[in-house]
Amino acid sequence: MPSKPRRMIDGTLAPAATDGERQNPLRAGIESDRISDPCSIVLFGASGDLFKRMLLPALWSLRLRGILPSGFALIGFARTKYTDDSFRTYCKEQLDAFAPDGSKPQGELWDTFAQSISYVCADFKQLAHFQELKRRLAENDERFGTRGNRLFYLATPPSVFPGIIDMLRRAGLDPRSNEQGWTRIVIEKPFGTDLTSARALQRTVQRVFGEHDVYRIDHYLGKEPVQDIMALRFANTIFEPIWNRNYVQSVQITSAESIGIEDRGNYYDNAGALRDMIQNHVLNLLALIAMEPPASSDADAIRNEKFKVFSAIASPRHEDVMNMSARGQYGPGKIDGAKATGYRQEPGVSPQSNVETFAALRLSVENWRWAGVPFYLRSGKRLARKVSEVVVTFKPIPHRLYGESTDAIEPNILVVKIEPDEGVALRFEAKVPGPKSHIRSVFMDFNYGTGFGFHSPPAYERLLADAMRGDQTLFTRWDAVELAWEIVMPVLDVWENTKDFSFPNYPAGTQGPQTAFTLLPDWRAL
Ligand code: BG6
Repeated sequence: MPSKPRRMIDGTLAPAATDGERQNPLRAGIESDRISDPCSIVLFGASGDLFKRMLLPALWSLRLRGILPSGFALIGFARTKYTDDSFRTYCKEQLDAFAPDGSKPQGELWDTFAQSISYVCADFKQLAHFQELKRRLAENDERFGTRGNRLFYLATPPSVFPGIIDMLRRAGLDPRSNEQGWTRIVIEKPFGTDLTSARALQRTVQRVFGEHDVYRIDHYLGKEPVQDIMALRFANTIFEPIWNRNYVQSVQITSAESIGIEDRGNYYDNAGALRDMIQNHVLNLLALIAMEPPASSDADAIRNEKFKVFSAIASPRHEDVMNMSARGQYGPGKIDGAKATGYRQEPGVSPQSNVETFAALRLSVENWRWAGVPFYLRSGKRLARKVSEVVVTFKPIPHRLYGESTDAIEPNILVVKIEPDEGVALRFEAKVPGPKSHIRSVFMDFNYGTGFGFHSPPAYERLLADAMRGDQTLFTRWDAVELAWEIVMPVLDVWENTKDFSFPNYPAGTQGPQTAFTLLPDWRAL
């Protein structure tokens, strides 16, 4: 018999649980997520790609899941000419296109959500437009009960971040001028394009916002399997005793994509794989794998430990860069049987570009736990398939009992699967049934989707909800961002100043350049 629909605390209907969800013992006792604080979100760059593909669907899904508070309003702030009404229509069209099936905008819930949306057609250089924003925010406090709480979300090109932050101050929209509620800012990556520009941006930010008001997004941290790295390590006793140099031979961290640069040639040809993925997403994965147990689950306790990991990674000397790194650029090839263009033929890319679309590094974490254990990182576009994972390879067995057999005894590996599969797999050796002592590798494999019976919410949902709640755990702190830049800077310097004449050096749809296998012959196949 269908159960009575549940109402959330704010009076909206909770989505019904499916039969599978009701019967799954792993879901028993799981409470629904905490509702965020009442607030207005201001989306700078609301006519852009990130807003329509990620942020708007995430907010709508939070509404459907009952996590958005009833005191909520969304203000789009961008150059494109919309009125409040035409912006609402635009939002509906985008949700029709990008919200997952089953959550299309309709009914009473959509009507109330749409009412809370408004738009300021703005030039980011005009103080008057920020003053208009201030007026609208005050109006929202009256109409929607947003209680003076403001979340500014910078989803614009990074070149305009400093100008917007400065205008917020001049218009009296900074946290110090807000006597009624909180003021927070969410800053999309990239946070700077190198160490110098990141420091300059930070100076602008800290003139207006305190560190506790700043939410620097690295959307990898919002992915459920990434958050689970800490649970795997610190909610179990069996992994921690072997999670160190005595048992671990090496660690591989991969974030590979089969897509190319899509329509982002102008951005990508000034960035490259090292800036785009390694300096932020991949290094953040490394920090979670290598960190010490934090004293508590408090945001700063965790971020202190991540900072310590980065402090223990020596940035390479310029003369060592070529030995501890590999770079590549894709040429024409095939992805899933279809022809794929080479990087230099992509729109917005220079036909002589020296920019890498593949980067691999060997780093060492020089502390008591990890001394002597190499950490291999790689990321690239147009590789054989999309896969993000961490592979912890354990040391070989000390003594071979199955001496006569010709079977190779593989080391144990633990794979933390981030995407497309989400889970954890352990490879161990087993005896093949029968009279002979044949040994083969087998996997014990846990998948979140099948295990818990539901798929993880997209990273942006979690991150937006956390920013509205004031939880900074999954956002990067300035000191770690600065160190991450320090780690990659020598590699960036050397790569930018030495042309790689072998480019393009891997065909689209393959395992990457040969040089990556010189750095590490046994990368796990993509
Ligand atoms: C972004 C990069 O930060 O992450 C993109 O700028 C990349 O180039 C994307 O494609 C990958 O994210 P995900 O979640 O698809 O692995």
